[in-house]
Parts: sequence; structure tokens; C-alpha cells
Amino acid sequence: MNYTIVASTSRDQSVSSQVAAQYQEILAELGVQARVLDLQDMPIDILETTLYKKVKQPNAAWEQMQEVVNATEKFVFVIPEYNGSFPGILKVWVDACKFPTSFKHKKAALLGISDGTQGSALAMGHFADVLNYAGTHTLALRPRLIQISKNMQDGRITNVEYLMFMRLQAEQLLTF
Ligand SMILES: Cc1cc2nc3c(=O)[nH]c(=O)nc-3n(C[C@H](O)[C@H](O)[C@H](O)COP(=O)(O)O)c2cc1C
Repeated sequence: MNYTIVASTSRDQSVSSQVAAQYQEILAELGVQARVLDLQDMPIDILETTLYKKVKQPNAAWEQMQEVVNATEKFVFVIPEYNGSFPGILKVWVDACKFPTSFKHKKAALLGISDGTQGSALAMGHFADVLNYAGTHTLALRPRLIQISKNMQDGRITNVEYLMFMRLQAEQLLTF
């Protein structure tokens, strides 16, 4: 089974990237070698070459990302809360992915992070709708890691309950 953890923002040195790396370790403990797809590596020239264009020009960096998506059977999305929803770049990424093959009949787990007290609850709901529309089934357990910066040290989550929920979700994803 092919797993990809998506760090769902293009923000520099994002918390999502750090949490994605820690999630990768948890999956490794469970015997799964997952890759991380960081939206920081999104080729932004895709807006000029490909996305929403009638005539699409080749974009090698994007094609490489699309290949990762093609190969993925199960996703984990680490979703930071931006203005009460998920980051716009995540929607750009979905819009750029080939429809319908990219997400049809696939599975996904969603993990929310925020500095406030919602933990991306709405963001995960919004994104689950997008994924479901595109044909991906979403795991019911969606941990909300609220006040994330207060619960991390040196780029790692220190809150044991947060870690427990991440592991529980990872275990559920394996059999989903
Ligand atoms: C553009 C932007 C909008 C944000 N909006 C919210 C918000 O609506 N609610 C909230 O609790 N935190 C909000 N935050 C804080 C982020 O959720 C929090 O800092 C998160 O850890 C950022 O993750 P990242 O480093 O992966 O971007 C926002 C941050 C940014 C950059």
C-alpha cells in the first residue's frame, strides 16, 4: 500500500511540515514507509503553464508531483487552519490534479492544527467535502490539535494526548 502525507501549505518552515515529519515516524513505527508531499514544493509557475489553461504547456515539476498522487492509495492531510478554513494552496493543488483519477476510490485521514481553539474543525469539514466530491473516502477520526504552538518544542509535538490521537488515527488508517 502506498501512503503519502501532505503538508497542506506552502508557508516557509511550516508547522504542518514538522507535524507531517512526526506523522511519518509514527507510520514507520507501524511498519509503513510513507512519503511526505510538501506543498512548499508546489511549482507556482503552474499558474502560468497549466492550471485553468486551455492549452497546457509541459511542467516537469508538476508532472512529478502528479505522479506521486497517481501512485498514492492512502493520504494523510495535515491541515492548518487559515481564516476558518483550509489553505488556498491546497485547493489549487486539488484543482491542478488530474480529475477524476487522482482521488477516485482512494482513502484519506485528516489531521487539523491551529493556534486557536478550533483545531481546523471547519477546515477539515470543508476539505472532506472536496475530497468526497473527488471520490476519496475520509476516515471518521479527525484529531484537532488546538493551540499547536503551545504544544510543540523544537519542532516536535510534546503533548502526549495529541501523539496518542495521531497514533490511533494512523492505526485506523492502516485498516481503513
Ligand atoms: C494565513 C493564516 C491564517 C490563519 N488563520 C487562522 C484561523 O483562522 N484560526 C486559527 O486558530 N489560526 C489561524 N492561523 C494560525 C495557524 O493555524 C497556525 O499558526 C498553524 O500552526 C500554521 O500552520 P503552518 O505553519 O503549517 O502554516 C492562521 C495562520 C495563517 C498563516
